[in-house]
Amino acid sequence: MAITAPRGTADILSPDILKWKYIENKIADISMRFGYSEIRTPVFEHTELFERGVGDTTDVVQKEMYTFNDKGGRSITLRPEGTASVARAFLEHNIYAQPLPAKLCYNITCYRYEKPQAGRLREFHQFGAECYGTSEPCVDAEVISLAKTILTELGIKKLNLNINSIGCPSCRKKYNEALKDYFRPYIEDGTLCQTCRDRFEKNPLRILDCKSPVCGEIADKAPVLLDYICEECHNHFEEVKKHLEAMGISYNVDGTIVRGLDYYTKTVFEFKTALQGTAGTVCGGGRYDGLIEELGGASTPGIGFAMGIERLILALEEADALPVLENAPDIFVANIGDETKLFVTALTDKLRKEGIKCERDLCGRSLKAQMKYADKCGARFSMVIGTDEAEKKTAMLKNMKEKAQTEVSLENLDELIKIVKE
Ligand code: HAM
Repeated sequence: MAITAPRGTADILSPDILKWKYIENKIADISMRFGYSEIRTPVFEHTELFERGVGDTTDVVQKEMYTFNDKGGRSITLRPEGTASVARAFLEHNIYAQPLPAKLCYNITCYRYEKPQAGRLREFHQFGAECYGTSEPCVDAEVISLAKTILTELGIKKLNLNINSIGCPSCRKKYNEALKDYFRPYIEDGTLCQTCRDRFEKNPLRILDCKSPVCGEIADKAPVLLDYICEECHNHFEEVKKHLEAMGISYNVDGTIVRGLDYYTKTVFEFKTALQGTAGTVCGGGRYDGLIEELGGASTPGIGFAMGIERLILALEEADALPVLENAPDIFVANIGDETKLFVTALTDKLRKEGIKCERDLCGRSLKAQMKYADKCGARFSMVIGTDEAEKKTAMLKNMKEKAQTEVSLENLDELIKIVKE
């Protein structure tokens, strides 16, 4: 049986790759405008990084990681997300000693063993941005604005920003008690699933993002964290909102957003598109003021987000927002018989060095078949080189759409280049 790609992974073929390049270039431009520089980290890390960073009671760590022992017996995990890796690199390379804030962004593949469906894969791509070294509310708003600018400049029109504050460890203590009081009867009567029962003592907040429908229904009526946050967290959240308003960014406060990763504190946010279900959440992020300390560094605030590129493409396609993208040759240079092949080799080489996208026959096709091929690959111009053309060093340049022909010199290529580049 033929070998296929593993479930939940996808090959990106031509012409789809043009969409990816277009999106990646736009995102790179916008993130530079906001002062972010790119960081590249390994695809795999020590498992402990995610257990400590993302949290060992999260779905991601408990159920979804690709973890294995390498030949040296070390436990290795394919990164399920980028924040923990960037935080590790921030510490490992003393980035904290450079002028802060440190603004870092990344384009990565991530790996999560999830049930594949529209917009949910086992290998997927994220663009992420992380800003370290300041807890000022204006940073939260700037990070949200970066995400929004990317999404809107790419052309997503129906976009909802949902924000919440999930407080600091001190407000969390009070809230955890309230959650436990709420969930206790369902633990006692056995309604909650086994994973939630395990989470009850260690981290009751995680019961709120259990994917089981029964637990989900109970969690919907649980107390909301926003009602339990301390004065400092409340004031911080109010300031974030003011900075968003100063930029004209509209938002909904959604007290049910807790995010599925343990490192978050204070501001959390999600951008939803018009797409239904999971695929609609195109971007998620928040503040994580305790993460660097959790990983062994000095207390350093941080905030960031990541957007799923596959979901972004689905949303852009739904909004019909992608421009027509093609990588067709500017010109196809055909040869008659074998005699002019060398001439065509030299000519196409010269044209390419002048920046012209140039194709020629590489398969020994007849002239008729070459012209059919030129048409299929969408060449804008074509030229046929026979012995006459090669000797006289002139040829007819044909506009494939308009069928108009112009005689051009093959000795001095200036005119040919001018017409093709127009
Ligand atoms: P996350 O919400 O787990 O956050 O993922 C961010 C985005 O990645 C999601 O909004 C979604 O678009 C995409 N995504 C997640 N899982 C999948 C999947 N299985 N298939 C396709 N796309 C997916 C994080 O990863 C955090 N590290 C974000 C962050 C950065 N927070 C602070 N800094």
